[in-house]
Amino acid sequence: MRRSHFLQASAGAMTALALPQLSQRALASDVVDYTLTAAPLRFSPAPGVNFGGLAFNGSIPGPLLRIVHGQRLRAKFVNSTGQGSTIHWHGMILPNRMDGAEGVTQAAVRSGGSFVYEFAPDPPGTRWYHDHVSDGLLRGLFGMIVVEDPRDQRADAEFALVFHDVPKLSTIAPAMMGVGRAPMDDPLGSPELTQMSMQSRMGDEVAFIAHCINGAAYPNTKRLAVKVGQHVRLRILNANPTQTRYVRLAGHRLIVTHSDGNQLPQPVEVDALRVGVAERYDAWFEVNAPGAWLLQGLSSDPLAYEQAAIVHTEGMENAPPLACPQSLEGVDYFTYQSAGGIVGALPPQTGAHYDFTLDDGKYGSSRWTINGKTYPSTPKIFVHRNDIVSVRFLNKTDMDHPMHLHGHVFEITGIDGVALVRPLSKDTSLIRANGGTLNWRFRADSPPGRWLLHCHNAIHMMDGMMTEVVYRP
Ligand code: C2O
Ligand code: CU
Repeated sequence: MRRSHFLQASAGAMTALALPQLSQRALASDVVDYTLTAAPLRFSPAPGVNFGGLAFNGSIPGPLLRIVHGQRLRAKFVNSTGQGSTIHWHGMILPNRMDGAEGVTQAAVRSGGSFVYEFAPDPPGTRWYHDHVSDGLLRGLFGMIVVEDPRDQRADAEFALVFHDVPKLSTIAPAMMGVGRAPMDDPLGSPELTQMSMQSRMGDEVAFIAHCINGAAYPNTKRLAVKVGQHVRLRILNANPTQTRYVRLAGHRLIVTHSDGNQLPQPVEVDALRVGVAERYDAWFEVNAPGAWLLQGLSSDPLAYEQAAIVHTEGMENAPPLACPQSLEGVDYFTYQSAGGIVGALPPQTGAHYDFTLDDGKYGSSRWTINGKTYPSTPKIFVHRNDIVSVRFLNKTDMDHPMHLHGHVFEITGIDGVALVRPLSKDTSLIRANGGTLNWRFRADSPPGRWLLHCHNAIHMMDGMMTEVVYRP
């Protein structure tokens, strides 16, 4: 029998975004130990920005955690924030008491206290972790965890990229009351912008004062050094609390292989990614010639240029990089339909079926509802082990909703009444505004307990758009 081997992994600041090959020592351990200490941080990623943030181990985002599928993770969480906090492991199937959902699977860890999260991270892929109590996520308590899949194709170079934005904290309460004045700043040509009627007043938007990749704003973002001939893998997370982010690399097409860490049925080639709140994409590109190019998060915010990083070949680090316009006009971006392929009418529902209508969020409203109710009065999904459950969402509101299910991987089986030929495995999915529908199917074979199902837009979640999947004995 193999002797247990423990590794105290170093969870440093996330400045080094390149992912080197894991050492033999790291690969040989059965348990990987991390300590995550959450505490206040003055965060100044751009001139004039002095944000009262909260950070894991002194950095926003928190450290990049890496583990090999099959190893156990033991993360000691030390809370020094001055408020209650938990860590939720987004996209993991794990024992319910390790899920970190405050008030559902555990009480908030009080400031000064600690809690040990221990589980074998599964499934493999690009996942993330974040606070699950009130405003911790908005203030900076989030980070990426990569669960390496030994069966994955090896990349010549690999980078972990957290796209995140610094909210203007004073705009959060008005957004929750539906009377905010922050504009929508989705890029020109985006469905978000196109589907808004001109007269409608939003009231639900949060304003942002800086746009970052891995804790810095352009031109101070860390550069990605690549070599001609390399196949490069990008692991991308949108940690913005409210906005979908379009991501593009100037001069390159991207080959998307994973969505939310789960392998796509087949790779999809696009100009840009469309990354809903909390979604992740793995995208590859080939370096065909020497040069310098910008990797960008697109939006129509005047500060959008800040969310960019230079990708360059040797000797080109100071060349002016090729850039893309902040627009989606004529840009072919990733959609669930392009990855799944559409076939025609959905087959009639069998098995346990739930219809969820997403509504409200009108100007001046502080409610975002599922079937007319706010959490905890929303209808719950009750399951028995191994039930196949299907859910159909109908979105009657004028915003997209990134709906997320804890502790499961579901399949998107249909969109807007049309079935997908190749269902997509995900943990978060955008549901189109103004009458869009989306169908999920999942098997209730996760550890028993209570699993949250909610909109990952922080405002909508806090305003009630949340329910639970509850396992019955
Ligand atoms: Cu990213 Cu309730 O989760
Ligand atoms: Cu929402």
